Amino acid sequence: MDVDLRPGTPEDAEICGRICYEAFKTISEAHGFAPDFPTPEVAIGVLRSLLANPRFYSIIAEIDGRIVGSNFLDERNMIAGVGPITVDPTVQNRAIGRRLMDAVHERAAEKNFAGVRLIQAGFHARSLSLYAKLGYDVHEHLACMQGKPLGISIEGHLVRPAVDADLEACNRVCRDVHGHDRGGELQDAIARGSATVVEHDGRISGYATIIGFFGHAVGKTNKDIKALIGAAKEFVGPGFLLPTRNGELFRWCLSNGLKITQPMTLMTKGLYNEPAGAFLPSILY
Ligand SMILES: CC(C)(COP(=O)(O)OP(=O)(O)OC[C@H]1O[C@@H](n2cnc3c(N)ncnc32)[C@H](O)[C@@H]1OP(=O)(O)O)[C@@H](O)C(=O)NCCC(=O)NCCS
Repeated sequence: MDVDLRPGTPEDAEICGRICYEAFKTISEAHGFAPDFPTPEVAIGVLRSLLANPRFYSIIAEIDGRIVGSNFLDERNMIAGVGPITVDPTVQNRAIGRRLMDAVHERAAEKNFAGVRLIQAGFHARSLSLYAKLGYDVHEHLACMQGKPLGISIEGHLVRPAVDADLEACNRVCRDVHGHDRGGELQDAIARGSATVVEHDGRISGYATIIGFFGHAVGKTNKDIKALIGAAKEFVGPGFLLPTRNGELFRWCLSNGLKITQPMTLMTKGLYNEPAGAFLPSILY
């Protein structure tokens, strides 16, 4: 079985989006979980935006000219984000996923990224094995949390929409917590109007690109993240990703009625700094 790889184009969105939807649906339903993408159209829309974005590298796998899978590399920050990777369910487990991962790793090496990161569906033995074999280490067990908006404010922690002028202060918080910033993603989120900041003692002490599956948040303390979660009008997508090692924040979410929708895993290869603060990781964006 000869597999050819080529860069993606916006014209691939329809076929890759359908494969992405089917691949996640098949694997989620086989394990009794809800699919990550509610409809093929949502998956097609997400992949269309990635394929059209010059700051995302895309790679397509074909067999005899037929598209059978795709993978992406988010190149907006010094740690590149891998995925979503999906392979047509009819040809999975035949080393196509490995080829698609090798391709984004080659690209990351060419572009001198300090490291790569991804979020793995915690119930899926195959992707966990594949990523570990490719050199990824597990850093966090995550709970994807969903529920009604909390409408809770935290005393002394004011949440407001983020504006362009907040970027540097937010990047500083991110650098303090992660050792590097995620300014590329934050800038896009400010432009989209989804980003929020939290202020404590008159200074920005945390921010969120969005509280949801596709967004990350960083805070100096758990109170900052609680304020951001508490002010969110909704938890976009399947839910937001909470590192369960942060027992205090995890229990706070549970005691406020949020439910776990699925387990996930934060894995990285290359540079990884143990976070020195509170955070919620993102799938992408
Ligand atoms: C995850 C996915 C992209 C992997 O692609 P694939 O083509 O099926 O995987 P590959 O055949 O390249 O690699 C699977 C590897 O895991 C190994 N493996 C599979 N199940 C295993 C298990 N239970 N224990 C140990 N190893 C296992 C295989 O032997 C293979 O290793 P090898 O390359 O050393 O032979 C694909 O299955 C998919 O699209 N899944 C649904 C969507 C998804 O989960 N995407 C990833 C989100 S985290």
